[in-house]
Amino acid sequence: MEAIKFLAEKTGIPVPEDSQNDRIIRLKKEILEINKETARFYHSILRSNEGTDALNYLLDRGLSGKTIGKFGLGYAPDSWDRLYNYLSKKGFSDYALSSAFVVKPGGNKKYYDVFRNRIIFPIIDLRGNVIAFGGRILKGDGPKYLNSGDTPVFKKSNNLFALNLAKSSKQPLFILSEGYMDVISMHQAGFDNAVATLGTALTSQQARLINSYRNEVALCYDSDEAGQKATAKAIKIFEETDIKVKVISIPGAKDPDEFIKKNGAVRFKLIVDGSAGSTDYALGKIAEKYDLETPHGKLGFVNDFCKYIAEISSPVERDIYITRVSEKLQIDRGAVNEQVINLVKKHENRKKYIEKQDIKMYTDNIPSKNRDPNRAKYIKYALAEDMLMSMLIRNQDFWKKISDIKPENFITDFNREIYRIMYERLSEGKAIDINYLGTVLNDEQMSHISYILAKNSAVNGDLTLMEENIKTIKEFDPLMNPKAILESSPEELLSKIQKKRK
Ligand code: UTP
Ligand code: MN
Repeated sequence: MEAIKFLAEKTGIPVPEDSQNDRIIRLKKEILEINKETARFYHSILRSNEGTDALNYLLDRGLSGKTIGKFGLGYAPDSWDRLYNYLSKKGFSDYALSSAFVVKPGGNKKYYDVFRNRIIFPIIDLRGNVIAFGGRILKGDGPKYLNSGDTPVFKKSNNLFALNLAKSSKQPLFILSEGYMDVISMHQAGFDNAVATLGTALTSQQARLINSYRNEVALCYDSDEAGQKATAKAIKIFEETDIKVKVISIPGAKDPDEFIKKNGAVRFKLIVDGSAGSTDYALGKIAEKYDLETPHGKLGFVNDFCKYIAEISSPVERDIYITRVSEKLQIDRGAVNEQVINLVKKHENRKKYIEKQDIKMYTDNIPSKNRDPNRAKYIKYALAEDMLMSMLIRNQDFWKKISDIKPENFITDFNREIYRIMYERLSEGKAIDINYLGTVLNDEQMSHISYILAKNSAVNGDLTLMEENIKTIKEFDPLMNPKAILESSPEELLSKIQKKRK
């Protein structure tokens, strides 16, 4: 709790009462339990007689039984209260059920099921929890898809469908599409690296989430105009990250699902491999808007071009395009360059702002008690661990310097658990950022991260300080401290080690 109070004082964010934190933690657990039961319930109905139509629908669309099982698809029966009654009997309260968004309050103090007569797509997080649902209409009126609203365990804008599966794919890139069915078709066709947004446009958080797993993404949106607009928007959003973007155009089909059904996986692979780089794609789209033969058209193009190019993070890549375009349009390279540089500066300020928002997002979240008994006892070491971790998050180049500090070398238990997760991830050669951490750490650990990032914000890249922290941590461990080894007798060393083990 101290950590949160500190952060709250620094940032002016109000702190919820302790009891309230515990209540929210309990509610979250209950919601996850409800979601699990709900997914099981809908899946068993899909496999029962009552689910025959729904199952046939899925089989007609080309899904195999194995795929249906892998994604845990289900069927919500055509009833107002089957799920409500089922879960109520299991003892879940109305409050928890409606917080989970599986039922809604109606008139007369009654509750009704949110999903009725729909195919159910469970949304699963990286720890395997069912966190939300999408539901596709089978027949009748109503929106084609219904999605869970945000709940204490789910934020649409922070999650991706099938990320739980795609994260372990051997493919070097992710394929990002718009639809549940697209992703499922792609996985079935062997593209186990497909993910989708959840019924909304791509958000910066999702882009950064993808970036914490891969450095490259292929956009595979619908081929209609809406899909193309969404593609352009997504390209822009990915420019906030270092991710390389390709664009897959789907010839002769509405979406990847339809393409695969028509043409098969082999052809799909061909268009994935042949997709254009995002910059060429985007510049082509911009050029289509203008008549480049007229001065007016040239000017319009150059303005759009500069805006686009300014958001590319690599100066070398920017330079290539600036040179190419100024030569092609026969305009002054220096003037174009200057316009771009000005925009780049603006863009960098925006980036800083987004980073701040990231931290705020987690400090706004429900903080919880810091159950960290040996922190007080080893405060000097705890502070060194804190700073080391916060520097590492901000500056992953430091990893080379500290990779010989194993989680076991950490002195305080609470930090050790967090560091272990960071250590494993970095050992795999992957990046850790606050978005990634948000998916693997629990709330308590996450609020600690927010705290140490805020506390150590001024010492980002200070190598000397980093080395001092390393030294402090090593000093505690007699086996890592050469001076101690030289100066101690074997008996002393042994007793130090034994003491440490206690
Ligand atoms: P599409 O309309 O392209 O549907 O919506 P689809 O995924 O191709 O589905 P099928 O093939 O007709 O079954 C793309 C995505 O947009 C969201 C859903 O996430 C859907 O997968 N969506 C669509 C909604 O959230 N609500 C809607 O009413 C429609
Ligand atoms: Mn479709």
